[in-house]
Amino acid sequence: MGKTKLITSIDEMKEIVKDLKLEGLSIGFVPTMGYLHDGHISLMNCSKKDNDITVVSVFVNPIQFGKNEDYEKYPRDIERDLEICSNVGVDYLFHPSQKEMYPEDYSTFVVVEGITEILCGAYREGHFKGVATVVNKFFNILKPNRAYFGKKDYQQLKVIQRMVRDLNMDVEVIGCPLIREKDGLAMSSRNKYLSPEERKSALSISKALFEAKRRFEEGETNPEALKKLIRDIISSYPNTKIQYVEIVDGETLKFKEKAEKGDVIAIAVFVGDTRLIDNIEL
Ligand code: PAJ
Repeated sequence: MGKTKLITSIDEMKEIVKDLKLEGLSIGFVPTMGYLHDGHISLMNCSKKDNDITVVSVFVNPIQFGKNEDYEKYPRDIERDLEICSNVGVDYLFHPSQKEMYPEDYSTFVVVEGITEILCGAYREGHFKGVATVVNKFFNILKPNRAYFGKKDYQQLKVIQRMVRDLNMDVEVIGCPLIREKDGLAMSSRNKYLSPEERKSALSISKALFEAKRRFEEGETNPEALKKLIRDIISSYPNTKIQYVEIVDGETLKFKEKAEKGDVIAIAVFVGDTRLIDNIEL
């Protein structure tokens, strides 16, 4: 595979994009916060399949973290990320500095209303404002034809799709499947925080979601019953604390009176100090 070019300057990245466009090449974009794993790699492979050029960004976006969240300790290893991108055959790894992305007098933000007040948005104030803003900035810098987001962050995918539709942005947003470890745990850069005991407790999350889906397929459509089943399974494991478990419409993210095919069960759980999210489509 060809070596991935690491670009850290916004102007240089824009120049490259300009040339690629002049050559008539299509650009696929995979935004990430780095510490890449197979979930990220699956997005890169989707992009490579559909586009002439694939650009991955690695940027731990400070404005999407709350005051008491893990911005400082979020895992970072750009050398490792660059090697992974090279092995996958990514063309460019864009890794701008915080200073260039947010100069001292930075003052413009993108707010998507209506679908950001629930689920993660209810507990992470300003989170989706930070996500929508940074993704908007990346779209302006990279002018991608297509951008790839994982269903692991289901609400994030819907927020970005809504932003692109509402602001008439010229990019196709593609949602890609959630990738799990062999034992079921949803892949996440934050899994690195888990001790071996916590890792065992974290398995309760996917286990509970699979069990709820099975019960739904057997005919249980009462959201309260499905949610109770999930709560009971997860709370039987040590060191787990559920933040929310909700059953929502897969498109509008509105809460459901009765679970139906196409709905999503979304969940956030603290395992020790680590906050994990997961979801399953019914
Ligand atoms: P990050 O958590 O690094 O995730 C980058 C992308 O990888 C997101 O689209 C996410 O949904 C996807 N992803 C993560 N784990 C996955 C898994 N197990 N299966 C499938 N896809 C997975 O999400 C962010 O970064 C940031 O909020 C970002 C969009 C980059 C804005 O800062």
